[in-house]
Amino acid sequence: MTKTKTAEMTAAAETVRGNIPLLQKSGEHYLDNAATALMPQTVLQAVANYNAETRANVGRGLHNFAEAADEQFAQARATVAAALSAKNDEIVFTSGATAGLNLLANALGQTVAKNGAVALSLGEHHSNIVPWQIAARRGGFAIRFFRLAPNGAADLEEARRIIRGASVVAVAHAYNVSGAVNDISALAQIAKENGAKFVVDGAQYIPHGFAAPEKLGADFYVFSGHKCYAPNGIGVLWGRKKSLAELPDAIGGGGSITEVCEKGFSAAEPPRRLEAGTPPISQTAGLAAAIAWMQNIPQAAKENARNLAQSAREELAKIPGARVLFSGGGENAPNVPIVSFVVEGAHPHDCCQILAERGVAVRGGHHCAQPLMRALGISGCVRASFAPYNNDKDLRALVAAAKEAAHILRR
Ligand code: ALA
Repeated sequence: MTKTKTAEMTAAAETVRGNIPLLQKSGEHYLDNAATALMPQTVLQAVANYNAETRANVGRGLHNFAEAADEQFAQARATVAAALSAKNDEIVFTSGATAGLNLLANALGQTVAKNGAVALSLGEHHSNIVPWQIAARRGGFAIRFFRLAPNGAADLEEARRIIRGASVVAVAHAYNVSGAVNDISALAQIAKENGAKFVVDGAQYIPHGFAAPEKLGADFYVFSGHKCYAPNGIGVLWGRKKSLAELPDAIGGGGSITEVCEKGFSAAEPPRRLEAGTPPISQTAGLAAAIAWMQNIPQAAKENARNLAQSAREELAKIPGARVLFSGGGENAPNVPIVSFVVEGAHPHDCCQILAERGVAVRGGHHCAQPLMRALGISGCVRASFAPYNNDKDLRALVAAAKEAAHILRR
């Protein structure tokens, strides 16, 4: 890489970093972005504005505050729809990716025949496993898993075999441990050939790039706001209009109906049918601001984050006793900037503790991916996850602290 290119990337990352108040106040090397990303000033401001200036419920009131809240809420939906190249009424607000997946498992689970199957990959987060297991218990169907390839992405040949005869396929777009990005179009095609509904968990992908789920061939796509610089408590479930309309009832309450009487109810049209109760309104203001902010992140800062992750992968692998998980697929692999590693013989929490004492924030443990940990023959690992505001100092602090941890823990 040329010096000019490196300088451009460094400068872009510093500009993005300047938008994050928490990083101005603290010298923390924040590399836990895959757990939760930090919020820029514009997002903090958007949430504060709603609470200070509007603060009304949506879809219920006719007064001035309510009208302003309705307008903000509709605008947020339109912003999300545009980012996903989707239509406004295909966007359902949830409290997070987990809530979206639970909703889908509750609803789609009712369509899976007794003795039928749902197919998942072994790399899924528990959020994309447990809801299906609960539905399977109720519906008497099986959950089948396909394994990952050495680069950490789904093994497509194995997927083809396991998906045969399944009614639903649910996979991550990008994995929270390997950072590998799945070939969603190929998996969609396999699901389609089997007549299966195709659900994609975009929680780890969307922070790094907006997907167009319809074009990718998904039927449903979920993500969380808090991993993409928005507040906690907001998520998105996208569904094709027809697929959303065909979902069996799974939740109900205020706002989700057109009429209720003692004998029963008639459901409203999606998306409101799937948004029972007061939605996370201030959070939608934050999410819309976060999307606007993400759309302005310079490409060079995103490349910088990818390069930092690639360098971390190479540097960590050189530490005696440390082992980087997954081959990663090299510099040009479409991975998101996540690197996971173990220090042989050491507990990942001990390693994280040593890193934390040196101001390096990472996550350690099973990462809510126990089937994957089991397949890897480990109980947990340490994960560093990068964002466009991370810089070379963060990388150097990570590598130096990991070296010390390996030295201390393997003595
Ligand atoms: N799902 C989040 C993670 O992978 C919390 O860390």
